[in-house]
Amino acid sequence: MQAVARGLSPFLLACACQISAAADGIDHPLPGTTPGDPVRGRAIVADRQVGLCLLCHTAPIPEERFQGDLAPSLDGAGARWTVPQLRLRIADSARINPDTIMPSYYRTEGLVRVAPAHQGRTILSAQQIEDVVAFLATLKGNR
Ligand code: HEC
Repeated sequence: MQAVARGLSPFLLACACQISAAADGIDHPLPGTTPGDPVRGRAIVADRQVGLCLLCHTAPIPEERFQGDLAPSLDGAGARWTVPQLRLRIADSARINPDTIMPSYYRTEGLVRVAPAHQGRTILSAQQIEDVVAFLATLKGNR
């Protein structure tokens, strides 16, 4: 348990048992959040300074040109994955695939080469994670 939990943000630490039991998702919204807003989530995914998602992924956000091709398209993510599965994949993708190039957006420790100004801070806030998950859940494909 200690070894599994090392390097996770306090929330993930607190619910590490729950995650290892479920293995593939975070069942409950992150603490202190209101229900995710898909409109805000879309803006985070589209924003190259905030989410960076389009560096690697394509998404059905037609106004953004030059989208990435290093990762699966986000279109259809809401059909392929449940909300708990999406939440874990954004919060800490490395839990699914330790070799992934996708950043762990809600993890503060166990990271290498973090600039001093960013140490101890997650890339996205808990609320931003919920907003992104709410947006992804709307992407059912066929666009
Ligand atoms: C540096 C590249 C990179 C960035 C930035 C990135 N991802 Fe990923 N993502 C990946 C890769 C590669 C995968 C494929 C699985 C793996 O290798 O872990 C993936 C997998 C996923 C999946 C599961 C895809 C599927 O349907 O199989 C979702 C959902 C996802 N990413 C969402 C996001 C979101 C939302 C953001 C921004 C907040 C983001 N990713 C940022 C590289 C990235």
